[in-house]
Amino acid sequence: MAEGDHHQLTNPALSPPPPLLDPNPNPDPITPTQLQNGHEAPGKLEISPKSEEFMEAKLLKQKFEMLKSLDRNSRRRSPRLVENGGGESSGNTANSGKPPLKKQKSGRKISFFIGDRVPPDEARRRWPWRYEENNVHFSGQNNIGHASKCENDDDDEDQLILNIKCHYSQAKVANVVFNLGDCAYIKGPKRGPNYIGRILEFFESEDGEDYCRVQWFFRAQDTVIKDDGISHDEKRLFYSTLMNDNLLDCIVSKVKVVQSAPNVSLKGRPIPECDFYFDMKYSVDYSTFSKVITDTTDLPSPSPPMMTTGIDTDIKCIVDEASNSGLCKPELALLDMYAGCGGMSTGLCFGAKASGINLVTRWAVDMDEAACESLRFNHPETQIRNESAEDFLDLLKEWDRLSKIYANHEVKELKPRVREVDEDKNLKADGKRNHEYEVDKLVDICYGDPTETGKRGIKFQVRWIGYSSKDDTWEPIENLGKCQERIQDFVLKGIKAKILPRPGEVDVICGGPPCQGISGYNRFRNVDSPLDDERNRQIKIFMDIVDFLRPKYILMENVIDILRFANGCLGRYAISRLVHMHYQARLGIMAAGCYGLPQFRLRVFLWGAHPHEILPQFPLPTHNVVIQYGFPSEFERNVVAYDEGQSRDLEKVIVLGDAISDLPPVGNDEIHDNMPYKKSPETEFQKYIRASESDMMGSSSSCTSTCNNPVLYDHLPYPLGNDDYLRICKIPKRKGASFRDLPGIVIGSDNSVRRAEEQSLMPSGKPWVPEYAISFRDGRSTKPFGRLWWDETVATVFCFPDHHSRPILHPEQDRVLTLRECARLQGFPDYYKFCGKLKERYRQVGNAVAVSVSRSLGYSLGMAVQKLSSDKHLMTLPPKFSHSTTIQLKSPSSDI
Ligand SMILES: C[S@@+](CC[C@H](N)C(=O)[O-])C[C@H]1O[C@@H](n2cnc3c(N)ncnc32)[C@H](O)[C@@H]1O
Repeated sequence: MAEGDHHQLTNPALSPPPPLLDPNPNPDPITPTQLQNGHEAPGKLEISPKSEEFMEAKLLKQKFEMLKSLDRNSRRRSPRLVENGGGESSGNTANSGKPPLKKQKSGRKISFFIGDRVPPDEARRRWPWRYEENNVHFSGQNNIGHASKCENDDDDEDQLILNIKCHYSQAKVANVVFNLGDCAYIKGPKRGPNYIGRILEFFESEDGEDYCRVQWFFRAQDTVIKDDGISHDEKRLFYSTLMNDNLLDCIVSKVKVVQSAPNVSLKGRPIPECDFYFDMKYSVDYSTFSKVITDTTDLPSPSPPMMTTGIDTDIKCIVDEASNSGLCKPELALLDMYAGCGGMSTGLCFGAKASGINLVTRWAVDMDEAACESLRFNHPETQIRNESAEDFLDLLKEWDRLSKIYANHEVKELKPRVREVDEDKNLKADGKRNHEYEVDKLVDICYGDPTETGKRGIKFQVRWIGYSSKDDTWEPIENLGKCQERIQDFVLKGIKAKILPRPGEVDVICGGPPCQGISGYNRFRNVDSPLDDERNRQIKIFMDIVDFLRPKYILMENVIDILRFANGCLGRYAISRLVHMHYQARLGIMAAGCYGLPQFRLRVFLWGAHPHEILPQFPLPTHNVVIQYGFPSEFERNVVAYDEGQSRDLEKVIVLGDAISDLPPVGNDEIHDNMPYKKSPETEFQKYIRASESDMMGSSSSCTSTCNNPVLYDHLPYPLGNDDYLRICKIPKRKGASFRDLPGIVIGSDNSVRRAEEQSLMPSGKPWVPEYAISFRDGRSTKPFGRLWWDETVATVFCFPDHHSRPILHPEQDRVLTLRECARLQGFPDYYKFCGKLKERYRQVGNAVAVSVSRSLGYSLGMAVQKLSSDKHLMTLPPKFSHSTTIQLKSPSSDI
């Protein structure tokens, strides 16, 4: 579904869950892939090597309480397996080729319990929910027979059997003894691999069936990664808290699963002998891969009859671990890839600062010159690289190599300047010496082919003695063989000034790698293998940069199409690359309007975090907004939203008037880039958006926002040609007005537009309504020449204010929205100035990540850096966060 197609969902609450009852009560082994579509077992009953009895009892009680208190309607809807982000993968499908579940009809029983029954008192204590008298309260209505339903399962996947006769501690399957806590292969689909799980319980039902309860491990291809899972180590599993009841016959054989400490590289750290290992857990919610907090290397079998208990995910453990690593720094260095004019990094730094963390954009890369100009103007502290990401990656590698070579040389006292002549360069064809140029110094470095010689490589920008900077030339390193001291001088100073990041020097990498090959408007999309499409290659380059620099945190942004196009394979690829690098990952879909902007704009964000760090959460909405645009249903559980029924304190939706009503009127022909404000701010939004940089960053001693920035930048519209200007002058100033209000057309009973028989023409002789407007969306659209209205929320700010295809006219002035008005809808503070031609500036603004969204993400990042966040997927922002500067958040009583 393309943007603009409506898939209306009330946000922040999602739709109610589907009915629970399963028409088929047969307890087939329910697989990781199936279960992930339901919910994690409440109470997070996880495995712990320390099976202390009190912990066990506590957790069981928790689970019991939760099961009883669960209110179906308060839970997020869980899409069914086949639709889900972590759904079926080939060969591992839950429903294809179901294993034989019935007991062997002929011959000897090959699986049965051995040893004594667990004494009834002990069984009741350890598995109380199985024996509760009133357990019918939370079992399904069809609680007859052997498989009853548990209300906690939205998708009726996890069947909790409640008609229990007794529990056992051991079973024998095909002559092998199984104890509680053992890991086993569980029958998989006919033509697929067996599943892998850990046995938590053995019990017999009143109707004589033997069961085991299994907690599942996921293979990479069982998760959201799907087909890309084949590139992962096939011995690597992902721990989950999903579990369910299965017939004992489903057990195939024993496997040894060990836990490996999380690490970005497993090189040099052999994993103990095992069939499988795991170092992360997986949750289908927000497609999350995160570290499992224990320091054991093996997953021991708790000696029977102990019940397995939870791995301790208490955040305190994470805090201790992280603080011991001594990685905290007062300033965090950010690299902004595909930076554009800097919307993403600017917001991240604002938000991090609001949380108390000094995140600084040290480097930014973009191949667009005008965008780099904007960055230079607004971020004088940043090293801005106007080059392609692929050249930047090659440069990083070369820079690291040069740094190692020259830094390891003893730093020599530089000799007084000597004449260093590039002889090769100055030899004439006849071998006679030309007049010599002398290298004064090297002033810059790049990788690529800046002078279009046809040869890529490392190049230095050379300043020549006796010449000015405008005579600088780019010289390949091979031509500077005799200028070793100059190179050393440049490299050593460059290392000191950190002109380029080296591995380990970047704390955060953010970026929105463009994927032009998936655009909904692009007819030439390579659906079969999108990653082979050159235009989608940047997502790979972005991940290669992450792989080389190994930052602590990553934030990738993209359009929803990466989850929609070709079964979402680009989004899956991005997660897969992070997990492959042993990074934690979490993916969310966020709507800009939910963070205090009058714009819907839905985007995908992917967090990555080094295993030594805490994986940042997603910030819950601050504003009550209806999400209008579709997202793929299988990623529904990635939408950053409150659960249905969850208590929330949301502010009223922001509308166009809130954002721009204070701006001075300008005409279609306005040419001034700067002008006075003329009016005071009228709304909270306007006060906030006029704040100074120091207020936003919290560096001023008092609130100075309104007086600091008396000049209004960029408040001019893209000028319309004469005919279009005359047309828009005729569009009435009222809500919903559009080209349909122009003369010369009639509107049929089916709401479609056609030309009237009698035509009135414009002074130019053209019709008032151009043909494209009539034929747009079969004549049914209201968008061409549409006027926005004060009480509306804009769909999305695009790269160009195209009044031919979308409503972008000012409510009461005859022009399109100005650049500043668009910038406000994107949450750019008024002090932020854009550079380049007007069209280029509109593009930068339309391309940007909405600053209010990145600011809220920056806050979550800052909380994670300070180890103040929990291991839950979502966090709540401080009250009034979206329209309060850092100064105001620091001293809430201050007023702007
Ligand atoms: C969606 S915009 C990024 C917006 C930016 N994140 C922000 O919030 O303002 C994508 C940017 O990628 C840049 N770009 C496209 N291909 C590139 C490449 N191969 N290397 C570097 N930059 C590239 C474009 O010039 C554009 O500015």
